[in-house]
Amino acid sequence: MIEKLRIGFIGGGQMAEAIIRGLLSSGRTKAERIAVSEPLPERRAYLEKTYPGLEVLGDNLDLVRKADLVVLAVKPQVMARVLEEIAPAVEPRHLVISIAAGIPLSFLEKRLPPGTRIIRVMPNTPALVLAGISAYTGGQSVSREDLELAQEFLSSLGEALELPESLFDAVTGLSGSGPAFVALFIEALTDGGVKMGLPRPVAEKLALETVLGTARLMKEAQKNPYELKAMVTSPGGTTICGIKALQDKGLPAAVMEAVEQATKRSQELSRLVEEE
Ligand SMILES: NC(=O)c1ccc[n+]([C@@H]2O[C@H](COP(=O)([O-])OP(=O)(O)OC[C@H]3O[C@@H](n4cnc5c(N)ncnc54)[C@H](OP(=O)(O)O)[C@@H]3O)[C@@H](O)[C@H]2O)c1
Repeated sequence: MIEKLRIGFIGGGQMAEAIIRGLLSSGRTKAERIAVSEPLPERRAYLEKTYPGLEVLGDNLDLVRKADLVVLAVKPQVMARVLEEIAPAVEPRHLVISIAAGIPLSFLEKRLPPGTRIIRVMPNTPALVLAGISAYTGGQSVSREDLELAQEFLSSLGEALELPESLFDAVTGLSGSGPAFVALFIEALTDGGVKMGLPRPVAEKLALETVLGTARLMKEAQKNPYELKAMVTSPGGTTICGIKALQDKGLPAAVMEAVEQATKRSQELSRLVEEE
């Protein structure tokens, strides 16, 4: 379905570039069918040079007029201004996808013409290397076909799950903030290795590859955390001693609390945006 559409990105930043790379490398569409509007001339020049065939514009209205699928890829702080600017050019043929963190559907629907088909997406940072997980949800006017198209579109960034918007704060608390929690764990694993005498670059490599490899093993061999833990933990061995230390120091409770606190903060921020 994607190949038939003219896709326009408003904002040519990191996330827009990651999606463009994903779409092109998956062969889902051609650069000639993608346009980007971006205010920064140097960034426009970079995008034009890096992705031959891509149409790069300086005008958001011009972009909307040319596109069927409009991707809002600007920072949340400028979203209200961008919506006000493009609203006059948004027509029933347009499908609008917003990837802005924390901007609810109601905010987008209030500022675009009634009946506009809008899909809200919550991506995460590993999307920048096409290994993200995105949640998406449709607004009042989207059809099943629109949602299928969103699924296909987001697959270029990694995995995608359709979820009700009521779960988006919890998604933000888990997969949105999760990369930072995992980074903290990798840092601590590295420091542990250094404390036990490993040179830092060696400890960094061991820690990173251990986390990456464990996640891949769990995914590819379809092992749940319990099974994976059982595979590594021999009776009276080293790993069970380490696990006891992590439990004694409260790692599971601390991680659960981190997701809870991040979710609560996302709820607070969503309420502030809705009051605007
Ligand atoms: N990066 C992530 O991992 C991640 C994860 C989840 C969600 N998101 C969401 O993705 C969206 C984009 O994030 P990002 O990381 O790609 O940010 P970014 O790199 O800052 O990209 C935003 C781009 O929009 C441009 N822009 C600013 N004002 C504009 C306007 N009025 N019209 C058109 N373009 C405009 C910016 O240009 P200037 O540089 O000139 O300002 C910039 O190139 C955000 O809403 C964010 O919440 C990102």
